[in-house]
Amino acid sequence: MSPAQPVGSPLPGMGELPQQAVAPAPNGSERPFSVYLHVPYCRVRCGYCDFNTYTNLTMGQGASAKDFVGTLAGELRAARSAMDSAGLPVRPAQTVFVGGGTPTMLPASDLVTMLDLVRECFGLAPDAEVTTEANPDSVDEAGLAALAEGGFTRVSFGMQSAVPHVLKVLERTHEPARVPRVVDWARRAGLSTSLDLIYGAPGESLEDWQRSLDAVTQIGPDHVSVYALVIEEGTRMWSQVRRGELPMPEDDDEATKYEMADASLRQAGYEWYEISNWARPGAECRHNQAYWLDWDWWGGGPGAHSHLGDVRLWNTKHPVAWAGQISTGHLPVAGHEVIDAGSRELERIMLSIRLREGIALASLSGPSDGPLDDVGATPSHLVPVVAGLVADGLLDDGAASKGRAVLTLRGRLMADTVTRALTQ
Ligand SMILES: C[S@@+](CC[C@H](N)C(=O)[O-])C[C@H]1O[C@@H](n2cnc3c(N)ncnc32)[C@H](O)[C@@H]1O
Ligand code: SF4
Repeated sequence: MSPAQPVGSPLPGMGELPQQAVAPAPNGSERPFSVYLHVPYCRVRCGYCDFNTYTNLTMGQGASAKDFVGTLAGELRAARSAMDSAGLPVRPAQTVFVGGGTPTMLPASDLVTMLDLVRECFGLAPDAEVTTEANPDSVDEAGLAALAEGGFTRVSFGMQSAVPHVLKVLERTHEPARVPRVVDWARRAGLSTSLDLIYGAPGESLEDWQRSLDAVTQIGPDHVSVYALVIEEGTRMWSQVRRGELPMPEDDDEATKYEMADASLRQAGYEWYEISNWARPGAECRHNQAYWLDWDWWGGGPGAHSHLGDVRLWNTKHPVAWAGQISTGHLPVAGHEVIDAGSRELERIMLSIRLREGIALASLSGPSDGPLDDVGATPSHLVPVVAGLVADGLLDDGAASKGRAVLTLRGRLMADTVTRALTQ
């Protein structure tokens, strides 16, 4: 979550949702519903991170870590009543994702209470996927067992690297040996496991990266997310790079590292299903689909974003201001915007081109019912464009001949170029 908040208008009254929030999906069907909950605390702030997170756990009434769940309860109840007033049908959450920050800075009992709140306010589908993010340093065996007992099904650990000097430059606090231990505890508790890796840290060699990949495949989680390090303006790492204290990562190096990740993970039985995500068959993160396939979701917690129908909303960012609004009975929404058809279509293309299924070329002539829509012919103006992308090795030839735009390995490194070409 970037610190920059979008520009948009506040909601009227205590937080009345606009009528466009009730819009069905473009194909007329009811959108599935998901919940994201943002926990804004970390023990240490990593130098590269610009997420909405704070190391002060005692920010004041309602915003302190000990009050967090109580305050969140106020937001979720207000969200439910705003949805009722707008006539938005309440649907049980198909997926819940507790992210941060570091959700496991809170006791496991608080995270279980959050899930109870989701059940109370929206309902929870019987086979819901319920994930929490965790820092390897902020979990213990009993806490993971309590999460599983309370209804969590999945845990995603921020591993980042297995190499001590890389962890150090990223300002991570855990020892490499901690990761297999926490994954083992999670597994024994019956939780599905995911590991996050970052490549391209200053000073990370190709050998270092291969060591991290080997460590991951050795640990064998169900799911792996692999991110290129983004050095966001304003972070401590950005200043260090600007001052020349840390080297800038090389673009070529990044491409090689992505290819290394794909080769190692594929060989170990993982399949890519989105540019940054690999899973064992059946272990794909369903929550991600909420974002990629245009579902509705409520994002609770400071700075969290929500998406309902044709409306995007974002919460007040600072926990003190967020808690203050909730304490006066307001929905803590800082702004909202109604998404027009053009932006929605561009977003649909940008997101679905990142998926293994790709996008139906026929659907590119205008809004359609989603990335799996597969009828009709490639619009004539795109025929030479697609041929060019295939010739450049960016789109898969076989898929294109069956009417789908599916990125090749090389194409995955240049997804923005492909999107631009397909939307020209
Ligand atoms: C909220 S954190 C995960 C949980 C916990 N806070 C942790 O870091 O262990 C989400 C993930 O985003 C990724 N991330 C954060 N900042 C990033 C950046 N600037 N570039 C690339 N990945 C980043 C990291 O892989 C991190 O694990
Ligand atoms: S622990 Fe996670 S959320 Fe917290 S600062 Fe580090 S990467 Fe960001």
